[in-house]
Amino acid sequence: MPFPRHWLIRHAAPWALLASLALPSQAEQLNVLHWWTSASERRAADLLAERAAAEQIVWRDAAIAGGAGVGAMKVLKSRILSGQAPDVTQLIGPAIAEWSELGLLLPLDEVAERDDWQSKLFPTIRQLVSPGGRSVAVPVGLHRINTLFYRSALLGKLGLKPPRSWDEFELLATKLKAGGFVPLAQSKEPWQVATLFEAILLGEAGPAGYRALFEAGNATQWQGAPVARALERLRRLQRWMPQPLREQPWQAVAHGFARGEAVMWIMGDWAKGELLAMGQLADADFDCQASPATEDAHLYSVDTLAMLAGKDSPPAQLALAALVVNAPVQLAYNRIKGSVPVRRDINPAQLDACGRASWQTFARGSGVQAPSIVHRMATGETLKEAITAQVHRYFLDKRLSTAETQRKLAGYARALGRQ
Ligand code: BGC
Repeated sequence: MPFPRHWLIRHAAPWALLASLALPSQAEQLNVLHWWTSASERRAADLLAERAAAEQIVWRDAAIAGGAGVGAMKVLKSRILSGQAPDVTQLIGPAIAEWSELGLLLPLDEVAERDDWQSKLFPTIRQLVSPGGRSVAVPVGLHRINTLFYRSALLGKLGLKPPRSWDEFELLATKLKAGGFVPLAQSKEPWQVATLFEAILLGEAGPAGYRALFEAGNATQWQGAPVARALERLRRLQRWMPQPLREQPWQAVAHGFARGEAVMWIMGDWAKGELLAMGQLADADFDCQASPATEDAHLYSVDTLAMLAGKDSPPAQLALAALVVNAPVQLAYNRIKGSVPVRRDINPAQLDACGRASWQTFARGSGVQAPSIVHRMATGETLKEAITAQVHRYFLDKRLSTAETQRKLAGYARALGRQ
């Protein structure tokens, strides 16, 4: 760099400064660990890699397959323990604060101050990446989990409307099944079953009731009526799903949905990215809206990258952090990924209808927001896995009673949740 950094900070124009902030003097490599391996996820990651290349940063990809990062988190931990930590990693939710407390993450305050994350990011997202006021991760995109995809052309042809409530859903599903259609796509992979469950739970409990389940001292709420209703609805929905139910990766479910094998699908909006990558057209081949009974709520997961501390590449790490959060990159990346920008200063007219509904609902503030369990926003990794496994068991094994399942969930929340 031609000038010392402290000189630049005092004298350069803010934008030039952001760009020059940490530009590596010659091409630097960054090992990036993430779990974006489906077609759309790959394209979205490639876009970041291309933008990084334009800034002399070589993105060395270390992608670990497995929806919802089930394998990636395990690989990440073992790499760190064996001294082979990546430079950059996808790290989500409360883990950001925990890892930061252990001193594992590079502080990004320089970037955050320069780009004014304080006013530019949604407050919930800023707090997530800045535990205790110190910025230690960079948000990439905001996903909405309570998303119902439906085949709009088909419903239009049949003169039917997508359902806003579960009663409407049941009526519609009955008609569709009578007409020879499979009403609801689903895989029996544990995280996909639990993803459907949390979308139902949000509708049954409402955002405040849902959030209360994760507050300290509230474990017994897992034994309350909303959780019972959500579990029972989850089980009853099986009659609208393909039979026999197969354990398929979510991308395979997306392909089946695109081929018309089912009329509706409840899944996080990364599914939109995948449908678009297949050449499906939003607002024509498919459409989306909030899953039943959750129109005024946002079940969210924020994809985040963290920079591991103690590496030889802080300039490149800081430059990558500055790059992924800048507005044009945010718009381009999230359009491919199916998520929406983490910034408040974009024009929502630039988003498709599904993205606009997500962004505008989230912008209404913390009252409507609910952190995803399965996608790592609500709890630590162990509790997330315990809830997922228990819900999955309940879904598959009809002998398990609802009350017994709730007792187990409450027990996990008591032992592994916030005290
Ligand atoms: C991540 C998404 C990803 C999805 C499927 C979620 O947990 O937040 O980025 O596309 O899993 O793998």
